[in-house]
Amino acid sequence: MRIDLISIFPEFFDALDLSLIGRAQEDGLLDVRRHQLRDYAADRHRTVDSPPAGGGAGMVMKPEPWALALESVLSSRAAGTRPTLIIPTPSGEVLSQSLAHEFAAHEHLVFAPGRFEGIDERVAAWAEDHFEVRRVSIGDYVLNGGEAAVVVMVEAIARLVPGVIGNAESLTEESHADGLLEYPVYTKPADWRGLHVPEVLLSGDHARVSDWRRQKSEERTQRLRPDLWARRA
Ligand code: ADE
Repeated sequence: MRIDLISIFPEFFDALDLSLIGRAQEDGLLDVRRHQLRDYAADRHRTVDSPPAGGGAGMVMKPEPWALALESVLSSRAAGTRPTLIIPTPSGEVLSQSLAHEFAAHEHLVFAPGRFEGIDERVAAWAEDHFEVRRVSIGDYVLNGGEAAVVVMVEAIARLVPGVIGNAESLTEESHADGLLEYPVYTKPADWRGLHVPEVLLSGDHARVSDWRRQKSEERTQRLRPDLWARRA
């Protein structure tokens, strides 16, 4: 999978070089490319923002640097492909495990995180001619910019790309895989500071362990996420 990240803070994405996503890049499963938006500004101050049309607080990202940066990405895409452009914004569709799965099946994702009051709306309209454009939120709260949301999205999506996680079984067991939260987990020692690993987990009886985990998943989901539970029922 190819991933392009365009931002005035491309260093923000250094965290993606760590751990499994970093390994997947070394292994050639992910081709992650960062771009400095200011490289596409026209003036010597490398300006990418300007006051909002109609007045009001804050600044808006100018359209031309974005178009030039996106055209540069398009010029190096695989022949005949239509990349998906993801614009992080609190006013987008909310990221979920199923949306992450959907994006993980795409060949080429381009992320356009805005700063300030956001990106001139015409960029998305223009981009429709070249990309599948999606506006995506990571939750109902407001960040200072889209970069942190991009890190979250790339982490959620990239780990679902075949081969990125060595043990594919962990993907089917985890929270949200089947609409339930994950059961609690324990390790050695069996008795730690007077707290005990539940007896059933030491029993060696796989069927009992499996029933217990299912029950804990259901209890936890009902208690902590009644919205998820209602959607299942
Ligand atoms: N930019 C600012 N807040 C955001 C959010 N909640 N999700 C995605 N992008 C954002």
